[in-house]
Amino acid sequence: MATQRTLSIIKPDATRRNLTGAINQRFEEAGLAIVAQRRVRLTEEQARAFYAVHRERAFYDDLCAFMTSGPVVVQVLEGESAVEANRTIMGATNPANADPGTIRAAFGESVEANSVHGSDSAENAAIEIAFFFAETDIVG
Ligand code: CMP
Repeated sequence: MATQRTLSIIKPDATRRNLTGAINQRFEEAGLAIVAQRRVRLTEEQARAFYAVHRERAFYDDLCAFMTSGPVVVQVLEGESAVEANRTIMGATNPANADPGTIRAAFGESVEANSVHGSDSAENAAIEIAFFFAETDIVG
């Protein structure tokens, strides 16, 4: 597998608890480089567009409200098989099911406030990275 990029978001529950550095340390210790990063407050419109694939789900409105409830850190992670590597580092979506040692097991509060988002495929990574970053923002 080659070097890949994936989109990561440190969610409002984590920024609220000042966990940005602790989470970034886990990415870096696992060999993923943070090649772009920006702290932003998502607008309702941005959150709804970013999570549009979930618009038919019962949790969509709550998810969008949560993602706009505080600052997030959007970032591009780069490394060997970065999409899959990041999913392993994050752990299962529901922190209750996440393996010990993963970010969501350590920090997640609930399935919604699960501290981090990561792209689920290389195809979606490209779409999600382009949602937040221009190619010139990414310095590998
Ligand atoms: P994320 O990787 O950001 O992608 C969609 C998010 O929806 C997911 O993480 C969860 O935080 C959130 N979510 C809220 N409720 C649910 C649910 N019941 N099932 C799956 N995801 C949920």
